[in-house]
Amino acid sequence: MQEKIIELKNVTFVYDADEEGKTNKPAVNDVSLDIYKGEFVAVLGHNGCGKSTLAKLCNAIYEPTEGAVTVKGIPSEGEENGDKIRRIVGMVFQNPDNQIVATIVEDDVAFGPENLGVEPKEIRRRVDEALKSVNMYDMREREPHKLSGGQKQRVAIAGVIAMQTESIIFDEPTAMLDPSGRKEVMAAIQRLNKEMGITIVLITHFMDEAVKADRVVVMDKGSIIEQGTPREVFSKIDLLREHGLDVPQSAELCHSLGLGDGVIGMDECVDKVCAMLGGAV
Ligand SMILES: Nc1ncnc2c1ncn2[C@@H]1O[C@H](COP(=O)(O)OP(=O)(O)OP(=O)(O)O)[C@@H](O)[C@H]1O
Ligand SMILES: [Mg+2]
Repeated sequence: MQEKIIELKNVTFVYDADEEGKTNKPAVNDVSLDIYKGEFVAVLGHNGCGKSTLAKLCNAIYEPTEGAVTVKGIPSEGEENGDKIRRIVGMVFQNPDNQIVATIVEDDVAFGPENLGVEPKEIRRRVDEALKSVNMYDMREREPHKLSGGQKQRVAIAGVIAMQTESIIFDEPTAMLDPSGRKEVMAAIQRLNKEMGITIVLITHFMDEAVKADRVVVMDKGSIIEQGTPREVFSKIDLLREHGLDVPQSAELCHSLGLGDGVIGMDECVDKVCAMLGGAV
């Protein structure tokens, strides 16, 4: 049996809830979800469907209005447990500028472990290792505000890695980046998962990022409406469209050409189109 890291049981969250918890519509509504050690899970969903709220429930920034969130068995209740949970589940947000606190790259990465009271020698080791793991070691003495968006976001990721969290939730980490910045950051995320075994939850609007995950979870109006492997989820083109979502271009093209559903890679798509054209000649 695989080890669960994050466990949500019938979790509902209402912003500005009154004493009965019924003022607003729930931002997250009766969600149950398990995230297993070493997994790479992508979360998709239309604007305002509750993805960021779900993320903040997973690392105890918010406590559920109803239901329970546990991280490695620790319930997300109270400040002390919240601190413990945030040492296990780190978070990277959309805007790298809001996450950088120091004027030199390596000082920024050291900030988290310093706050945890880690020994200076150990901090040095962690900072170097974290910067190497996101390919930013050569820029360790640079000023963060002079870096590109993708580089800044990789510094923010190194900051979380240096805290040695087992799991990282990324809330649209590439939304503000140009295509090359997006590629750099996605490559870094995949490396953390595959080479360092860090459990990843990636919230994204980009379907080509979601196809890289082991599991895709689709949300709408606070609830999980579908989940499965990328191939399973992206086979359901009509369902995704109904909920205002795109499908990867390869899936769309193969579907419209009648070449099958759930094609999630351009290589596979090209093979299918070539086979069709070959057959037609
Ligand atoms: N601080 C807040 N106070 C009150 N309501 C909020 C707050 N933050 C979010 N909401 C509401 O909760 C719902 C879910 O918001 P959330 O930010 O979790 O969605 P999201 O899926 O992350 O959206 P996006 O794709 O735009 O980032 C929305 O209706 C939103 O308006
Ligand atoms: Mg959001």
